[in-house]
Amino acid sequence: TVFRASTTAPVNIAVIKYWGKRDATLNLPTNSSLSVTLSQRSLRTVTTASCSAVYPASEGDTLTLNGKPQDINASKRTLACLVSLRSLRKEVESANASLPKLSSYPLRVVSENNFPTAAGLASSAAGFAALVRAIANLYQLPQSATELSRIARQGSGSACRSLQGGFVAWRSGTKVDGSDSLAEEVVPASHWPEMRALILVVSAEKKDVPSTEGMQTTVATSPLFATRAESIVPGRMTAIEDAIHKRDFPAFADLTMRDSNNFHACCLDSEPPIFYLNDVSRAAIRLVNDINRVAGKIVAAYTFDAGPNAVIYYLDEVSEVVAGTFKAILGGLDGWDGPFGDRLKSVSA
Ligand code: DP6
Repeated sequence: TVFRASTTAPVNIAVIKYWGKRDATLNLPTNSSLSVTLSQRSLRTVTTASCSAVYPASEGDTLTLNGKPQDINASKRTLACLVSLRSLRKEVESANASLPKLSSYPLRVVSENNFPTAAGLASSAAGFAALVRAIANLYQLPQSATELSRIARQGSGSACRSLQGGFVAWRSGTKVDGSDSLAEEVVPASHWPEMRALILVVSAEKKDVPSTEGMQTTVATSPLFATRAESIVPGRMTAIEDAIHKRDFPAFADLTMRDSNNFHACCLDSEPPIFYLNDVSRAAIRLVNDINRVAGKIVAAYTFDAGPNAVIYYLDEVSEVVAGTFKAILGGLDGWDGPFGDRLKSVSA
């Protein structure tokens, strides 16, 4: 018998950014963060996990990503997730001796992204969330999404926020063992169904400095970063949760843009400096500012992760103005060679 479970996990885009680890081995963050989970209709990872006594033990566990076999032993993070999931399955098996001993079978994990991998589009977030969820389903684990977030976090920090929908907070926690560093849903997507995200794929290439490496450099060298983690982010977390509860878009948008700018300022303040934004990214920032100025209030917000791609948040009622302006203006930029459909993805958040 082959036991099998499939799942999909969505991408999440942080509005208060995770950047910096207080413990790199356990993957514990310096500060809390908050993200919006995007609709699975647009960006997602599809993962199938299977295990069987007939899979040759000599092959061990295997992982295939976008059709390419991966060296699972080279990824400490993947191994850490598998070890944790297996030990939870062992607990289930020891509580019920009649269950098949899936924990002793080799695992096969096959994962596909429907968007560029490692281009600052949060592929590791959806990837590890889907891996953890697929194996948890295969093993029929009783743990909640918040409990599983502790495992996904070891794969990639931002992945712990992709196990739930809507607006999700990752509480940094204070314990050294990381047991209180967990993601929880602040409100479901249905709380604010008008929220939209427009993704501007400026570049689908792999990013220059991977986020893990970039954040280590920032923590070690940026004086601005200490201020960010200690005095800027905690207040913003409270303020943005309040804005989300009240569905106050201008406050949500203002905090989102400030936090993206502060994160990229910390990157620039690092030694050597890290540049994730490019000319098209900066044009997108100016365009959002112009849209807001013409509207006479904040109707759109930009945010950028560890790459040049922009995510623009806005409400459905201003879709035409925001998405329409982006298509009209950025369509004429140099280096903009793809049809709109390739570069602008309008998704419901
Ligand atoms: C800029 O989750 O990719 O997207 O934990 O080292 O795998 P690791 O980092 P990762 O970092 C994401 C950084 C970010 C901000 C965010 O998603 O909060």
